[in-house]
Amino acid sequence: MSSQTNFTFRFRRQPLKLLYTLYKLITIPFIKLPFFILRAIFIRPRPTWSLARTVYVDLYRQVVVFIGQTGITPHLSPDKGAESARKQFGVGFSFVEPIPEEGIVADVKEAARLNGVKPERRWGYWYGPGVLEEGFKKPPPGTKMFYFMHGGGFVLGSAHPSDPLTGETSTPILKHCPGANIFAIEYRLAQASPYPLANGFPAGLIDALSGYYYLVHTLGIDSNDIIVSGSSAGGALAVGMLLYIIRQGLHRRDGSGLSLPLPRALWLESPAVDWGMSHVTSTSSMTLFQRSDIVSPFIQPTDYCVRAVLGNLPKEEAEKNVYISPASKNLTDEEVKGLFKEFPDVALTYGGSEILRDVVWTFRDRLVRDLGKERVLDLEEPDCPHVFSTLLLHEKDKESAYGKVGRWYKDL
Ligand SMILES: *[C@@H]1O[C@H](CO)[C@@H](O)[C@H](O)[C@H]1NC(C)=O
Repeated sequence: MSSQTNFTFRFRRQPLKLLYTLYKLITIPFIKLPFFILRAIFIRPRPTWSLARTVYVDLYRQVVVFIGQTGITPHLSPDKGAESARKQFGVGFSFVEPIPEEGIVADVKEAARLNGVKPERRWGYWYGPGVLEEGFKKPPPGTKMFYFMHGGGFVLGSAHPSDPLTGETSTPILKHCPGANIFAIEYRLAQASPYPLANGFPAGLIDALSGYYYLVHTLGIDSNDIIVSGSSAGGALAVGMLLYIIRQGLHRRDGSGLSLPLPRALWLESPAVDWGMSHVTSTSSMTLFQRSDIVSPFIQPTDYCVRAVLGNLPKEEAEKNVYISPASKNLTDEEVKGLFKEFPDVALTYGGSEILRDVVWTFRDRLVRDLGKERVLDLEEPDCPHVFSTLLLHEKDKESAYGKVGRWYKDL
């Protein structure tokens, strides 16, 4: 597991990519699939899983491996993204101006210097009942909204509705949280060798801040109506953004300039908050749940995501940087105590069969210690993989999990 086998993009160039694709088009249906079916007849990673679900999860991991060998789809340009979002999905679009550079300070500023990243103009997509032809219509005060960051290990995925990491996840949120809109930020994706190094930490965090600044200052949305949210690595961005605001005291400034008041709440789905992989032991979910999850080939100790998000930062940053890995076991009790005490209410949705389960547990326990049990809602869904809002054959689980999110939302 320590030597990198996935996400090497070794077949990223033509004609290798085509040959590899053809090879997979033959071997997956005719060799892998029969094997997966046969195996699922005898052993399933979870007794509750149907044969179909077991095989689906097995196949999904093959798709993840395929992406890791052939390459990651770049974002649609804002022009194309805006047009197809509106025409095909009824989803709105807005540009997001960069947060003023004075807003990036202290250790995050230093990391930005090392990785050569600055605030940049970005964009995002609007989902929900407030969507108009152009952008969205500000709802009456008191209508809550989600500010969302998709998953994808900091290196893939999009806020555009054609990407399931946002498109699929938005569906159960909108269904169970009536009235809510979602603004999904198209944050910069990190990359590393074999590609040129780009957009390492804190590029994504800066873009998350720009989007929040846009909601609060440009649109004038009451921060009390905003639920900051994210899936997987997007969860780390959401947590990192709040930690940054609190540690730099941006929430304590008066209404002018760079003040960034805290949101009403934080909702996270399967937050990936330990990139130093401090939870990898022979008895942890990181090891034991590889077959019951979809992202096992993707979230690995030496793998691409970690190299990409770190960029020029030393490797220890994945183990010790609270913005990247707030659940790292390398952070001492002393270092994490009180870190979350100013956090708003939190709800955690995650699957009981995902490799990150133990990571989420550590994170939950840290939150509970600072905030108390009443303010941290643990919504573990039994026997579900990572970010199951994007998966087929999980309709009942989504109903159950997002029904709970909906009840939490109504009570906020
Ligand atoms: C993190 O913890 C692991 C295991 O205890 C240790 O090997 C590693 O050196 C630690 N990293 C840092 C940066 O302290």
